[in-house]
Amino acid sequence: MKKVLEINDLKILAKKKLPKMFYDYVDSGSYTESTYIENETDFNKIKLRQRVGRDISISRLSKKFLEKEYKLPFGFAPCGMGGMLYPDGEILVAKACEKNKIPYILSTMSICSIEQVAENTNEQFWFQLYVMRDKTFVENVIKRAQDAKCYALVLTMDLPILAQRHKDIRNGLSAPPKPSLNSLLQILKKPKWCLKMLSTSNRSFGNILGHVDGVDDLSSIVKWADGQFDPGLSWEYVKWIRKLWKGPLILKGILDEDDIKIANDYDIQGIIISNHGGRQLDGTISSIMALKNVINDVRTNLEVFFDGGIRSGKDIVKALALGANGVFMGRPYLYGLGAMGQPGVEKVIEILVKEVNTTLLLAGETDVNDLDNGNLY
Ligand SMILES: Cc1cc2nc3c(=O)[nH]c(=O)nc-3n(C[C@H](O)[C@H](O)[C@H](O)COP(=O)(O)O)c2cc1C
Repeated sequence: MKKVLEINDLKILAKKKLPKMFYDYVDSGSYTESTYIENETDFNKIKLRQRVGRDISISRLSKKFLEKEYKLPFGFAPCGMGGMLYPDGEILVAKACEKNKIPYILSTMSICSIEQVAENTNEQFWFQLYVMRDKTFVENVIKRAQDAKCYALVLTMDLPILAQRHKDIRNGLSAPPKPSLNSLLQILKKPKWCLKMLSTSNRSFGNILGHVDGVDDLSSIVKWADGQFDPGLSWEYVKWIRKLWKGPLILKGILDEDDIKIANDYDIQGIIISNHGGRQLDGTISSIMALKNVINDVRTNLEVFFDGGIRSGKDIVKALALGANGVFMGRPYLYGLGAMGQPGVEKVIEILVKEVNTTLLLAGETDVNDLDNGNLY
């Protein structure tokens, strides 16, 4: 097996190990995938300054996110269906994050439930909330996150409707699922994955199953979920969530300067500049260009987080230099998870730590907290 040296090596491994439909679910954007692609390639437009002779013997990578000390300047973004890439996937990701003292945001659409992740870890994770039409579900899930001692609530603003990912539809991974000979063959081609998945009973959406009246199997979940994303999402909704959630509240999926100006008026603690990894509005600006454009418009006491297109330590350093307080990523850890389970996720962290450290030092800095525009051309 080729030595794993960079995130792309784990991507290649994940492709080998996963049924096509689940690999494609991760490695896809909406429609033409132009925004998904530019999220990655636009990092190349930003250049770091190489500085020398600055005594770089000791480095510091730790950061405070929302008043909480973390060991590294990055964390893992909420991603649905992690538990289909590896048995009990979200628990494994949470454990890897706990071990490395980085934040993990659990998705509403995870396979393992909030309670299962909490039972298997000691460190507080964050919880991501999708806007659902079923307000009782929303109230209950917020209460469950509170009971599980989640640290922050991340409200996703960029999915009032679902954009189309062609690959998912072609693979039959849509709502409602379209089981076909093709999808059955994709699964049978990966017998090791099938065997591993038999080791767990977690194969459906754990935060939903058994928590909505009448939703107790996959087909009733799909029926319920289809049509639950709420196109009526407005800023009034943020006010409502604010009343329900006592801890730090973060809005995810803010990209435009006018929305930043609106968000500034709300009682929130942070935003994640994000375009959902290029899975929603195809044709919009890349996350990194958005960060560059809007950072100065953000209210000073709001923490600015970033996600989209991070594939290496240098990308993390660039986003921090542009002004992000912290950086999140989705696909890199999903590739690690699909490739090797928890050791794969830990490998992602190990690779990124080394890359961030080397980039930081060769840019002539020793503390990630000192990075700013002065480190960029
Ligand atoms: C497979 C997959 C599933 C995702 N599921 C969710 C989700 O459930 N909730 C959410 O807010 N964002 C979701 N996202 C978006 C991520 O939180 C994040 O914004 C995105 O992955 C960042 O881009 P990157 O993958 O290039 O790092 C998902 C992304 C991927 C790739």
